[in-house]
Amino acid sequence: MTEFTGNHILSVNQFDRDAIEKIFSVAHSMEPYARREKRTTVLSGAILGNLFFEPSTRTRVSFGTAFNLLGGEVRETTGMDNSALAKGESLFDTARVLSGYSDIIAMRHPAAGSVSEFAEGSRVPVINGGDGANEHPTQALLDLFTIKRELNYHGKGIDGLHIAMIGDLRYGRTVHSLSRLLCLYKDVRFTLISPKELAMPQPIVDAINDAGHRLTITEQLEGNMDADICYQTRIQEERFPSQEEANRYRGKFRLNQAIYTRHFQSKTVIMHPLPRDSRMEANELDNDLNINPNLAIFRQTDNGVLVRMALFALTLGVEDLVSKYERDVVWYSNKSS
Ligand code: CP
Repeated sequence: MTEFTGNHILSVNQFDRDAIEKIFSVAHSMEPYARREKRTTVLSGAILGNLFFEPSTRTRVSFGTAFNLLGGEVRETTGMDNSALAKGESLFDTARVLSGYSDIIAMRHPAAGSVSEFAEGSRVPVINGGDGANEHPTQALLDLFTIKRELNYHGKGIDGLHIAMIGDLRYGRTVHSLSRLLCLYKDVRFTLISPKELAMPQPIVDAINDAGHRLTITEQLEGNMDADICYQTRIQEERFPSQEEANRYRGKFRLNQAIYTRHFQSKTVIMHPLPRDSRMEANELDNDLNINPNLAIFRQTDNGVLVRMALFALTLGVEDLVSKYERDVVWYSNKSS
């Protein structure tokens, strides 16, 4: 089984099913702290270096929140312009320096492979918060954790699930990482829906085929799809060679209640890594779905805190000490209701 303590988390490829179950079990145990029913100081004195060289709301803030909830402190660097990388400093040197100031580092960077390059210079564990169009392992873990919980509610497991992935599958790193994780499970059915130009990269298609899963590739939503999960994505305009090219695909895959009713089962779970592009010309996930109980997007974001708390606890080797350092919450909190 994967050894967590002291190791980087750079790719979903480093996990097997036992490791994923371990992460999910620790994530589950974090619920009282995330809900503010209890607090813990197990990481008191520890420092997270939170380095985000690309825009982020969820990943950056939930990494920070997760570390704070374990009692640790967070030091942030956001944007390339606010770092000496803008003066030509290498990723290796930056890692050498910042790992002297931190116990663990979470990092996002626009270039594929950059977080692994950074990790080579780091003296502390590094967690990949997204490297270009390559991978977003912690998002994939929280997506899978959400899928497991949502399907469990419907009396199903991950083995045998049917997932429809829709939109920009070429540049969307979350679907790359999630597909690779799903290759660890049995008899998964993938329906990949995108324009040809934005199709899932061939190495991931090969991995799905090698795992013996059923795979349908199509350019549009057709008929009733019998999917358990509808995973919608945003056109990753920041990764296109030009804005003009991104605009060509904007709004091509909209999902609203009427389209959902036409193409999905009444219990199909709707997921999206977020942010959803709510501008009129894109509107890939319409606000009229906000009252649909199967819309799991904000359960995904809440689950992100649990999974990231688990990854910090495991990587820093304190997963069995969290409750030992437990305290009562003394402020008003209604998160558990
Ligand atoms: N899902 C995700 O990575 O969101 P952010 O870009 O806001 O971190």
